[in-house]
Parts: sequence; C-alpha cells; structure tokens
Amino acid sequence: MVSLTINGKSVRAREGAYLLETIRSAGFDVPALCNHEALEPWGGCRLCLVDVTRAEWNGWKKMVVSCMFPVEDGLIVETHTQRVEETRRVVLDLLLARCPDAPLIQKMAAEHGIERTSYERNPEPTDCILCGLCTRVCDHIGVSAISSVNRGSGREIAPPFNEAPPDCIGCLACAEVCPTNCIPYKTSDYKRSIWGKEFEMLRCKVCGKAHITVMQAGYYAGKNGVPGSYFETCDACKRKVMAEQFAKLSSGARG
Ligand code: SF4
Ligand code: SF4
Ligand code: FES
Repeated sequence: MVSLTINGKSVRAREGAYLLETIRSAGFDVPALCNHEALEPWGGCRLCLVDVTRAEWNGWKKMVVSCMFPVEDGLIVETHTQRVEETRRVVLDLLLARCPDAPLIQKMAAEHGIERTSYERNPEPTDCILCGLCTRVCDHIGVSAISSVNRGSGREIAPPFNEAPPDCIGCLACAEVCPTNCIPYKTSDYKRSIWGKEFEMLRCKVCGKAHITVMQAGYYAGKNGVPGSYFETCDACKRKVMAEQFAKLSSGARG
C-alpha cells in the first residue's frame, strides 16, 4: 500500500493503482471522458488533469493526467487548482465547438461556466467526442471492426470503407461504452443492426428472450472454446436454474 494526500485528506491506495480511481475512491470528483475501468487508460480527453507535488519539491507542482498516473508514496494531489480548472475549461470549450448539440458535453461545459463555445462551431456537428472508448473496447474483445478515420473536424469513428464491417459480431459493446450514446443500433427479439450490418439473434431456450447474436456466440465459442450449448440459455435463466438447484440441495441437506 502507498500513502498519499488528496485535497488535504490522507489516503491509502493499492500499489500500482492509478490516481483517478484513487481520487474517486477517496470521495472526490474529477471529470473524465475517455476512461473505463475495464480498459487500459489512454489519456485522450485530458479532462482528468490534476496537480501533483511532493514535500521535497518546495512548492513546485506538475499537472498530470490522473487516469494514467500511478499512485506514489508521499504524493500530494490537488484536483481543483485554478490552472487545472482553466485547462479543463479550454478542453470543454473545444469539445463544445466540436459537439455543440451533445447533451453530456453541454452539461459538463455548463458546470464549468461555459454556455456557448468561444471557438468556431463545427460546421458538421457530431456527438462523437473521439474518446476512443468504442474502438478500444472492440480491440479489447479481439475484433477491431471500427477505427478512427479522416482528419481535423471531419475525424470520426467508422468501419473500413464505411461499409458493413465483416468482422463485427454485433455485441453492442461499442454502443454501450459510448459516453454520448452516439452509436446508433436497433435490436429486437429476432434481429439486431449496428454499423450497417444486420445480425440474427439467438433466443434463450428457457425464457425465449433474445440475448446474444448468433455471430457473437460463434465467435466466443471459437475463441474461448466455450461449448455452443452454453449460449442456448441466457444469463438470467442460468442464474435462476442455479438458484433452484441450490435451494433443492439445501432443503435436501436439511431434510
Ligand atoms: S458491435 Fe461490432 S464494432 Fe461494436 S464492439 Fe461489437 S464487434 Fe466491435
Ligand atoms: S463513438 Fe462514442 S465511444 Fe466512440 S469515440 Fe465517439 S464518443 Fe467515444
Ligand atoms: S479520462 Fe484521463 S485523459 Fe480522459
């Protein structure tokens, strides 16, 4: 364990933990848009900047990206200094220029005193803040069906050649992780569509609900060697069956 100080509060943290998770566990709020606990940090949005110093630095401070900065023994952290807040305002002002209609960005900007961007408004507004979470989660599951394309204000996330991506398995992880909910998809008991590709759904043999795409089940079975029969039942029904078996075993033991 390491000991550090965050906004004057003494905190102990697991060695190797990143500063952002430690700051949040200590009860302080730092804005962050490109971070997810299931993914390696990337440091793209720069909103999670904080000031750090040490007693022996004689008052000198440096700004670090807290989602990528490992905790250190004796570190002194300040999350809301004037220069940190000013930098966050610039970041949010730029994001508001790119995504003027994105409710999350409007809200975060307003919380930092920005009602209207001071930069030139994107002529083609988008809700995509280019946080990279969607591409990273897709890489993480081993598919890599989408990527960042184009330059400047036209940069966006898209499948290769803007066509239905052959590798996409329709898992929806990209849409679920997107902080601005800007990846459109449709899903029903029979079909799902995302990135211009349509998928057949696999329905739970117990409750009949669609729970996974056929292609997704095939991918996991091939990748992890999970038997295809595992996907015949949804997670909720698996849990229910286990609970019933457990109840039977317990009543048998009591009887
Ligand atoms: S839905 Fe397709 S693009 Fe999105 S994470 Fe899953 S495989 Fe990747
Ligand atoms: S589509 Fe969503 S998750 Fe992907 S980069 Fe844009 S804002 Fe981030
Ligand atoms: S959350 Fe740290 S840089 Fe985006």
